Amino acid sequence: MKRGCLAVALLLLSACGDAAPDPDRADLDPNAVVSGYAFLTPETQAQQDDDFLNPGFLWVDRGAKLFRSGEAVSASCASCHGAGGRPLEGVAARYPRIDEATGKLTNLEGRINVCRTRHQAAKPLAHEGEDLLALSAYVASLSRGMPVSVQLDDRLRPYYEQGRDYFFTRRGQLNLACHHCHDRNWGRSLRGDTISQGHANGFPTYRLEWQTLGSLHRRFRDCDTGVRAEPMSLASEEYLALELYLAVRGAGLAVEAPAVRP
Ligand code: HEC
Ligand code: HEC
Repeated sequence: MKRGCLAVALLLLSACGDAAPDPDRADLDPNAVVSGYAFLTPETQAQQDDDFLNPGFLWVDRGAKLFRSGEAVSASCASCHGAGGRPLEGVAARYPRIDEATGKLTNLEGRINVCRTRHQAAKPLAHEGEDLLALSAYVASLSRGMPVSVQLDDRLRPYYEQGRDYFFTRRGQLNLACHHCHDRNWGRSLRGDTISQGHANGFPTYRLEWQTLGSLHRRFRDCDTGVRAEPMSLASEEYLALELYLAVRGAGLAVEAPAVRP
């Protein structure tokens, strides 16, 4: 047994080397849903709560400037979404959703890029690039405190099932599913971290370990790599479906973006 596997096995008992499908596919109890914020030290909570100390606000401020700027685009975001336009307050709490024009599942970053190409005659911004992080942090911050509320319908349901399958599927050399850590072992410690329920309500998030702001899909890649599985690409259909599953699983949690996490 490899060392990492052993360390995790101590936590999860029989989790390693057992490729049989898991009979227990119970979703997290909706009455037990709690934000990752609850597992932070008081110092990190204080850092998140104070907009002047929260480093994520550097991106929010930058995003607010980009939002108003007409540079290199045919029209600023603010010209359509500012005063008198289509307001963006509360929008982030309703994503991911289906883009009506393409019929495809889209998250907030994807939606911002749709506006770039469809309404600004500009190129899509790179995932995990500073501009897209800044714009998504700014737009998400307009929903802070509002409850995550993605309503499933017939078009979303297949994606939801796909995301749920991903969440319950064992992967990587450690042979663990998201479910093993985030449904069954939240509140316990693993290599110095307290495992949370793995919710998405704080993203994009400033992670102290990254020393920068990062997207939810970057976090997925870290967790996949943590079990030594091959991570999916940013904005892949697998990760978008997983994002949808998490939004429904974490329904009612307040949007915290930009959160601060270890
Ligand atoms: C020329 C007008 C225009 C510009 C410029 C524009 N948008 Fe939009 N935006 C729209 C319209 C119209 C919609 C509604 C969906 C559609 O028809 O594409 C929309 C939808 C959105 C949504 C989703 C709203 C919802 O309720 O789901 C977001 C988020 C958004 N825009 C962000 C941005 C950002 C960020 C920028 C700048 C990078 C931007 N938009 C630039 C017109 C614009
Ligand atoms: C071996 C245990 C383990 C597995 C398996 C795992 N994670 Fe994590 N995950 C962690 C730890 C540890 C953290 C950091 C502490 C925390 O927030 O839970 C974390 C953090 C997260 C966060 C950030 C939560 C927040 O509040 O910022 C999300 C989202 C997440 N994981 C989703 C997933 C998903 C989706 C999967 C499956 C693809 C997965 N994790 C698999 C251990 C795991």
